[in-house]
Amino acid sequence: MSRVRGFISFEGIEGSGKSTQVKLLAEYFRAKGHPVIETREPGGTRIGNKIRALLLEPENHMDPLAELLLYYSARAQHVREIIYPAVVRNSIVITDRFTDSTTAYQGHARGIDLSLIETLNEMVVPDMKPYLTFLLDLDVEEGLRRNREARKVDRFEQETVDFHNLVRQGFHQIAREEPERVKVVDASKSRDEISREIIRIIEEVWR
Ligand SMILES: Nc1ncnc2c1ncn2[C@@H]1O[C@H](COP(=O)(O)OP(=O)(O)O)[C@@H](O)[C@H]1O
Ligand SMILES: [Mg+2]
Repeated sequence: MSRVRGFISFEGIEGSGKSTQVKLLAEYFRAKGHPVIETREPGGTRIGNKIRALLLEPENHMDPLAELLLYYSARAQHVREIIYPAVVRNSIVITDRFTDSTTAYQGHARGIDLSLIETLNEMVVPDMKPYLTFLLDLDVEEGLRRNREARKVDRFEQETVDFHNLVRQGFHQIAREEPERVKVVDASKSRDEISREIIRIIEEVWR
Protein backbone atom coordinates (compact mmCIF):
# COMPACT_ATOMS: atom_id res chain seq x y z
CA MET A 1 0.00 0.00 0.00
CA SER A 2 1.70 3.21 -1.06
CA ARG A 3 1.06 6.74 0.13
CA VAL A 4 -0.29 9.02 -2.57
CA ARG A 5 1.11 12.52 -2.60
CA GLY A 6 -1.66 15.09 -2.72
CA PHE A 7 -4.13 12.85 -0.88
CA ILE A 8 -4.83 14.06 2.67
CA SER A 9 -7.33 12.81 5.24
CA PHE A 10 -8.65 14.26 8.47
CA GLU A 11 -9.64 11.98 11.31
CA GLY A 12 -10.87 12.40 14.86
CA ILE A 13 -13.90 12.01 17.09
CA GLU A 14 -17.17 13.88 16.61
CA GLY A 15 -16.74 17.61 17.09
CA SER A 16 -12.94 17.57 16.88
CA GLY A 17 -13.00 20.18 14.09
CA LYS A 18 -12.41 18.03 10.99
CA SER A 19 -14.91 19.82 8.73
CA THR A 20 -13.59 23.19 9.91
CA GLN A 21 -9.96 22.28 9.21
CA VAL A 22 -10.69 20.64 5.83
CA LYS A 23 -12.08 23.99 4.65
CA LEU A 24 -9.14 26.00 6.03
CA LEU A 25 -6.57 23.68 4.46
CA ALA A 26 -8.39 23.75 1.11
CA GLU A 27 -8.27 27.57 1.23
CA TYR A 28 -4.53 27.42 1.88
CA PHE A 29 -3.91 25.24 -1.18
CA ARG A 30 -6.26 27.29 -3.39
CA ALA A 31 -4.48 30.48 -2.39
CA LYS A 32 -1.30 28.83 -3.67
CA GLY A 33 -3.01 28.06 -6.97
CA HIS A 34 -3.45 24.28 -6.50
CA PRO A 35 -6.66 22.61 -7.64
CA VAL A 36 -8.33 21.06 -4.59
CA ILE A 37 -11.20 18.64 -4.08
CA GLU A 38 -12.86 18.68 -0.65
CA THR A 39 -14.78 15.54 0.10
CA ARG A 40 -16.04 13.45 3.01
CA GLU A 41 -16.94 9.98 4.21
CA PRO A 42 -19.39 8.50 4.35
CA GLY A 43 -20.57 10.37 1.26
CA GLY A 44 -18.67 12.25 -1.39
CA THR A 45 -20.90 10.92 -4.18
CA ARG A 46 -24.66 10.81 -4.86
CA ILE A 47 -24.83 7.13 -3.96
CA GLY A 48 -22.49 7.68 -1.02
CA ASN A 49 -24.70 10.42 0.37
CA LYS A 50 -27.73 8.09 0.26
CA ILE A 51 -25.69 5.51 2.18
CA ARG A 52 -24.55 8.27 4.57
CA ALA A 53 -28.18 9.09 5.37
CA LEU A 54 -28.82 5.43 6.22
CA LEU A 55 -25.69 5.23 8.37
CA LEU A 56 -26.24 8.39 10.37
CA GLU A 57 -30.05 8.40 10.89
CA PRO A 58 -30.53 8.37 14.66
CA GLU A 59 -33.59 6.07 14.38
CA ASN A 60 -31.72 3.17 12.79
CA HIS A 61 -30.56 0.26 14.94
CA MET A 62 -27.95 -1.17 12.67
CA ASP A 63 -26.19 -4.50 12.84
CA PRO A 64 -22.41 -3.88 13.18
CA LEU A 65 -21.56 -5.99 10.12
CA ALA A 66 -24.27 -4.30 8.04
CA GLU A 67 -22.79 -0.99 9.16
CA LEU A 68 -19.25 -2.00 8.22
CA LEU A 69 -20.29 -3.15 4.73
CA LEU A 70 -22.30 0.00 4.07
CA TYR A 71 -19.21 2.06 4.88
CA TYR A 72 -17.24 0.04 2.36
CA SER A 73 -20.00 0.33 -0.29
CA ALA A 74 -19.88 4.09 0.06
CA ARG A 75 -16.07 4.01 0.03
CA ALA A 76 -15.86 1.87 -3.13
CA GLN A 77 -18.00 4.41 -4.95
CA HIS A 78 -16.08 7.34 -3.48
CA VAL A 79 -12.63 6.00 -4.35
CA ARG A 80 -13.57 5.18 -7.95
CA GLU A 81 -15.83 8.12 -8.73
CA ILE A 82 -13.98 10.94 -6.92
CA ILE A 83 -10.61 10.15 -5.36
CA TYR A 84 -8.80 8.18 -8.11
CA PRO A 85 -9.80 10.49 -10.96
CA ALA A 86 -8.80 13.57 -8.96
CA VAL A 87 -5.44 12.09 -7.97
CA VAL A 88 -4.78 11.11 -11.60
CA ARG A 89 -5.30 14.70 -12.77
CA ASN A 90 -2.95 15.93 -10.02
CA SER A 91 -5.60 17.59 -7.93
CA ILE A 92 -5.14 17.72 -4.18
CA VAL A 93 -7.82 15.65 -2.45
CA ILE A 94 -8.75 16.42 1.15
CA THR A 95 -11.18 14.01 2.73
CA ASP A 96 -13.08 14.43 5.97
CA ARG A 97 -12.63 10.85 7.32
CA PHE A 98 -11.30 7.77 5.51
CA THR A 99 -10.28 4.21 6.39
CA ASP A 100 -8.84 5.08 9.82
CA SER A 101 -12.34 6.00 10.97
CA THR A 102 -13.51 2.49 10.12
CA THR A 103 -10.60 0.97 12.02
CA ALA A 104 -11.30 3.18 15.04
CA TYR A 105 -15.14 3.04 15.14
CA GLN A 106 -16.05 -0.38 13.75
CA GLY A 107 -12.78 -2.06 14.78
CA HIS A 108 -11.53 -0.65 18.08
CA ALA A 109 -14.88 0.62 19.42
CA ARG A 110 -17.42 -1.93 18.06
CA GLY A 111 -15.00 -4.82 18.26
CA ILE A 112 -15.04 -6.07 14.66
CA ASP A 113 -11.90 -8.07 13.86
CA LEU A 114 -9.22 -5.66 12.62
CA SER A 115 -7.97 -8.21 10.10
CA LEU A 116 -11.42 -8.24 8.43
CA ILE A 117 -11.23 -4.45 8.09
CA GLU A 118 -7.71 -4.76 6.68
CA THR A 119 -8.97 -7.28 4.10
CA LEU A 120 -11.79 -4.94 3.07
CA ASN A 121 -9.26 -2.12 2.73
CA GLU A 122 -7.16 -4.20 0.37
CA MET A 123 -10.23 -5.00 -1.74
CA VAL A 124 -11.79 -1.57 -1.85
CA VAL A 125 -8.80 0.78 -1.66
CA PRO A 126 -6.07 -1.07 -3.53
CA ASP A 127 -2.61 0.42 -3.29
CA MET A 128 -3.60 3.84 -2.04
CA LYS A 129 -3.13 5.58 1.28
CA PRO A 130 -3.29 9.23 2.21
CA TYR A 131 0.12 10.85 2.14
CA LEU A 132 -0.76 12.66 5.35
CA THR A 133 -3.51 12.09 7.88
CA PHE A 134 -4.24 14.74 10.50
CA LEU A 135 -5.64 13.22 13.66
CA LEU A 136 -7.47 16.00 15.49
CA ASP A 137 -7.17 14.84 19.05
CA LEU A 138 -9.74 16.12 21.52
CA ASP A 139 -11.28 15.19 24.83
CA VAL A 140 -14.48 13.25 24.10
CA GLU A 141 -16.75 15.34 26.33
CA GLU A 142 -15.45 18.53 24.73
CA GLY A 143 -16.15 17.19 21.23
CA LEU A 144 -19.68 16.14 22.15
CA ARG A 145 -20.24 19.51 23.83
CA ARG A 146 -19.14 21.39 20.69
CA ASN A 147 -21.49 19.35 18.56
CA ARG A 148 -24.42 19.80 20.93
CA GLU A 149 -23.83 23.52 20.72
CA ALA A 150 -23.87 23.25 16.93
CA ARG A 151 -27.05 21.06 17.25
CA LYS A 152 -25.47 18.23 15.33
CA VAL A 153 -27.22 14.96 16.16
CA ASP A 154 -26.59 11.62 14.50
CA ARG A 155 -26.46 7.95 15.38
CA PHE A 156 -22.86 8.21 16.63
CA GLU A 157 -23.42 11.27 18.77
CA GLN A 158 -25.88 9.10 20.73
CA GLU A 159 -23.21 6.59 21.65
CA THR A 160 -21.76 6.61 25.17
CA VAL A 161 -18.68 8.52 26.29
CA ASP A 162 -16.98 5.13 26.79
CA PHE A 163 -17.62 4.28 23.13
CA HIS A 164 -16.07 7.55 21.97
CA ASN A 165 -13.09 7.01 24.26
CA LEU A 166 -12.49 3.64 22.59
CA VAL A 167 -12.63 5.43 19.23
CA ARG A 168 -10.11 8.00 20.45
CA GLN A 169 -7.77 5.28 21.75
CA GLY A 170 -8.15 3.46 18.43
CA PHE A 171 -7.01 6.54 16.57
CA HIS A 172 -4.04 6.88 18.94
CA GLN A 173 -3.03 3.30 18.21
CA ILE A 174 -3.15 3.93 14.45
CA ALA A 175 -0.97 7.03 14.94
CA ARG A 176 1.55 5.00 16.94
CA GLU A 177 1.68 2.35 14.21
CA GLU A 178 2.12 4.83 11.34
CA PRO A 179 3.82 7.96 12.69
CA GLU A 180 5.10 9.02 9.26
CA ARG A 181 1.61 9.26 7.84
CA VAL A 182 -0.53 10.11 10.86
CA LYS A 183 0.17 13.44 12.57
CA VAL A 184 -1.56 14.04 15.89
CA VAL A 185 -2.74 17.62 16.35
CA ASP A 186 -4.04 19.07 19.61
CA ALA A 187 -7.63 19.99 18.70
CA SER A 188 -8.36 21.84 21.95
CA LYS A 189 -6.61 24.94 20.57
CA SER A 190 -8.28 27.67 18.54
CA ARG A 191 -9.25 27.10 14.90
CA ASP A 192 -6.42 29.36 13.71
CA GLU A 193 -3.75 27.81 15.92
CA ILE A 194 -4.74 24.35 14.69
CA SER A 195 -4.72 25.51 11.08
CA ARG A 196 -1.25 27.04 11.47
CA GLU A 197 0.06 23.81 13.00
CA ILE A 198 -1.36 21.77 10.10
CA ILE A 199 0.18 24.10 7.51
CA ARG A 200 3.51 23.97 9.34
CA ILE A 201 3.45 20.16 9.09
CA ILE A 202 2.47 20.28 5.39
CA GLU A 203 5.32 22.67 4.60
CA GLU A 204 7.79 20.50 6.50
CA VAL A 205 6.72 17.22 4.91
CA TRP A 206 6.08 18.50 1.36
CA ARG A 207 9.56 19.92 0.82
N1 LIG B 1 -10.79 24.84 17.44
C1 LIG B 1 -12.09 24.97 17.75
N2 LIG B 1 -12.45 25.47 18.94
C2 LIG B 1 -13.76 25.59 19.28
N3 LIG B 1 -14.80 25.22 18.49
C3 LIG B 1 -14.49 24.68 17.29
C4 LIG B 1 -13.14 24.53 16.85
N4 LIG B 1 -13.14 24.00 15.61
C5 LIG B 1 -14.44 23.81 15.29
N5 LIG B 1 -15.27 24.23 16.28
C6 LIG B 1 -16.73 24.18 16.33
O1 LIG B 1 -17.08 22.91 16.88
C7 LIG B 1 -18.15 22.30 16.16
C8 LIG B 1 -17.66 21.02 15.52
O2 LIG B 1 -16.68 21.32 14.52
P1 LIG B 1 -16.60 20.50 13.16
O3 LIG B 1 -15.55 21.12 12.31
O4 LIG B 1 -17.97 20.35 12.59
O5 LIG B 1 -16.10 19.09 13.74
P2 LIG B 1 -16.19 17.62 13.12
O6 LIG B 1 -16.33 17.80 11.63
O7 LIG B 1 -14.90 16.98 13.52
O8 LIG B 1 -17.36 16.95 13.77
C9 LIG B 1 -18.61 23.34 15.13
O9 LIG B 1 -19.68 24.08 15.69
C10 LIG B 1 -17.36 24.22 14.94
O10 LIG B 1 -17.71 25.54 14.57
MG1 LIG C 1 -17.78 17.16 10.32
